[in-house]
Amino acid sequence: MYMVTLQGTQEQFECKKGEPILRAGLRAGFGLPYECSVGGCGTCKFDVLEGQVEMLWPEAPGLSDRDKRKGRMLACQAVPLEDCIIKMRLDKECIPPVLPVNRSVGLIERYKITHDIEAFRFKSEGPAIFKAGQYALLTSPKIEGARAYSMSNLSNDEGIWEFQIRNVPEGLMTRHLFDQINIGDKLELDGPYGVAFFKNTGRDVVCVAGGSGLAPMVSIAKAFSEDPACKEHTLHFLYGARTPSDVCGEDMLQELAGFGDRIFYHAIVSNPETLTQDEWDGPVGLVHTHIYDVLDGNLQEYEYYFAGPPKMATAIDTLLLEKYDVASSQLHYDRFF
Ligand SMILES: Cc1cc2nc3c(=O)[nH]c(=O)nc-3n(C[C@H](O)[C@H](O)[C@H](O)COP(=O)(O)OP(=O)(O)OC[C@H]3O[C@@H](n4cnc5c(N)ncnc54)[C@H](O)[C@@H]3O)c2cc1C
Ligand code: FES
Repeated sequence: MYMVTLQGTQEQFECKKGEPILRAGLRAGFGLPYECSVGGCGTCKFDVLEGQVEMLWPEAPGLSDRDKRKGRMLACQAVPLEDCIIKMRLDKECIPPVLPVNRSVGLIERYKITHDIEAFRFKSEGPAIFKAGQYALLTSPKIEGARAYSMSNLSNDEGIWEFQIRNVPEGLMTRHLFDQINIGDKLELDGPYGVAFFKNTGRDVVCVAGGSGLAPMVSIAKAFSEDPACKEHTLHFLYGARTPSDVCGEDMLQELAGFGDRIFYHAIVSNPETLTQDEWDGPVGLVHTHIYDVLDGNLQEYEYYFAGPPKMATAIDTLLLEKYDVASSQLHYDRFF
């Protein structure tokens, strides 16, 4: 066990051998800034002032060449080799609402959602406690590094963790999940993580999902549906699919109280080259270009949650902030690196 000290404060936390600094800090309740936990976004950059620290994945794309030259590291990939002092600003938005815990989970069920997305249900010994929209890190001893997957269900005492995972043909973890693990097999699950979780702010809600970004948005729609304080509010759920065969999620929302009255589903297909009128007569284009029409103006009145490819998240962020002047505090998103 090593001690990590945050420069300029009396704050310290313990970090197990081999444990990334980010996870140890969040487990201790500190608001270390982060987003993806998997080396992609660069939000968790920090400087080492004293002590030896090693990057588990030195090529992680979240670090630029300039960062590397300056000796910066990513807290989600950095493990201490001795006690150390680091320079990293804290962010109270990142204080975990539920402290992450590492546990073993067993696969209990899987089924198809679309031609390339499957639901995977795991069970842990204790309860599955998390906020709607958060994710967990899955690790297998056969694969280098953890992978983030968002829960599609709600917190529960039965220890059920449900994921909706897209089959990435060359992806190491998805190949493992789709081809190698069977019912009863165990994986390591660490979580919950993520700051883009549902908070009832008294505003109407917009959820935008692209591709496998479906899972956290379904979880948020479930939380909205069950929250008595949201009864007078509406939720618009936009799903951006590449082709008609990728469209999904409506059946999951149809099961929710309020569907059709205050919960509305809109699918948008982006790849017109594959379309004939028989296949698809709904809206066409990139999902963010339809937000204005769906909401019929008044974009500043809503709380926005979105998840999916980084390009989609950036397009929504730019559109809402720059074109429609929505406050950044109303935008909550996960980019799936
Ligand atoms: C916050 C978040 C939530 C996500 N939620 C979902 C979801 O609900 N459903 C879904 O289908 N996908 C989700 N993803 C994407 C998912 O985590 C994987 O990126 C995807 O499944 C591809 O993984 P792979 O191993 O199959 O592909 P690969 O191409 O083998 O791996 C890509 C991923 O692994 C990481 N990685 C690669 N090499 C290393 C290494 N040596 N050490 C450490 N990390 C490495 C990369 O940062 C990247 O995240 C999410 C991603 C993020 C960041
Ligand atoms: S949180 Fe470390 S790179 Fe994204």
